[in-house]
Amino acid sequence: MASEYPALVALKPRLAAVASLDATALAAEETAVLGRKQGVITSLLKEVATLPIEEKRTFGAAVNALKLEFEAAFAARNAEIAAAARELEKRDVDLTMPGRDSWPGNLHPVSVVVKEIVEIFRGLGFSVALGPEVETEELNFLALNFPADHPAMDMHDTLYLETQGAERAVGEKLLLRTHTSPVQIRVMRGGKPPFRVVIPGTVYRNDAFDPSHAPAFTQIEGLAVDEGITFVDLKATLSHFARRFLGADTVVRFRPSFFPFTEPSAEMDVRCKLCEGQGCSACKGTGWMEILGCGMVHEKVLINCGIDPEKYTGFAFGMGPQRIAMQRYGLPDIRLLYGGDMRFLTRYGNIGR
Ligand code: DAH
Repeated sequence: MASEYPALVALKPRLAAVASLDATALAAEETAVLGRKQGVITSLLKEVATLPIEEKRTFGAAVNALKLEFEAAFAARNAEIAAAARELEKRDVDLTMPGRDSWPGNLHPVSVVVKEIVEIFRGLGFSVALGPEVETEELNFLALNFPADHPAMDMHDTLYLETQGAERAVGEKLLLRTHTSPVQIRVMRGGKPPFRVVIPGTVYRNDAFDPSHAPAFTQIEGLAVDEGITFVDLKATLSHFARRFLGADTVVRFRPSFFPFTEPSAEMDVRCKLCEGQGCSACKGTGWMEILGCGMVHEKVLINCGIDPEKYTGFAFGMGPQRIAMQRYGLPDIRLLYGGDMRFLTRYGNIGR
């Protein structure tokens, strides 16, 4: 019947909407529709009285029918809301507590740096290799041409693992890897050259936390072995990396250095961006910042991996993303990268990137 009267048809969507109103909107709507003074239905009923007798009967019946429908809908929704509230009360929820904002996911600043570095080397044809954090003394040191009495193997620097039962022979002792270089050995022993890999991972040293040391930190290792690789390839590759990572105007220099597993060995510095090489607190007055260690793979290391050093040569490098993140973001203390302070992490992480 209601369908015959446009004024009543117009109320149908409101009737349908009652079932999804919340408690506040429901109370307001109930007053707006059925309220004694201003209610829409109430006003329609008042109109009925002014109509001619015949219309009075049909229209009046239609309005009354709609009124009953509204009453039933309000009663049902009120019962539903009351039941839900009782349910919540049972669960001991404090409805007066403010809601919690959701925090969007975020990459840690060190993860951002690792990702960027790995991507640059991927673009040069390197792939990613990984290795275990528990290593043997043989892979962590001896196969990398560390002499058996090298001070790095001392308990003071290296975290050895206690092993049960018989004492293990030299080389077989287990330790937490002190660098990612043993993965070079795993890669070279596990396949045939050419190799081009970058190896990100966590390494461990027996160091206490201080502004520039941490007992566990990240390294990214690199290794390229092929026929005819020379120091020129090393310099070109690592200079390209520095310019991609730190900007096209980056000035680099290579300084002679020493590592047991490379010969010759070098350290790559970049000219301090903050003082343009003048010397400031960030570069400790030197005008340069150390970025990585590198060198030509020592022929003993190639031989240890069954690779003919007459045929193949290679270069390797290793860097510390925490140090690089500290330089990039101007951080005075490495411990900021371990603290989990949301104010710090949301400022330097990659929210929204
Ligand atoms: N493993 C060295 C360290 O932890 C870093 C390193 C230097 C790695 C030179 C290399 C390299 O591959 O060629 O200090």
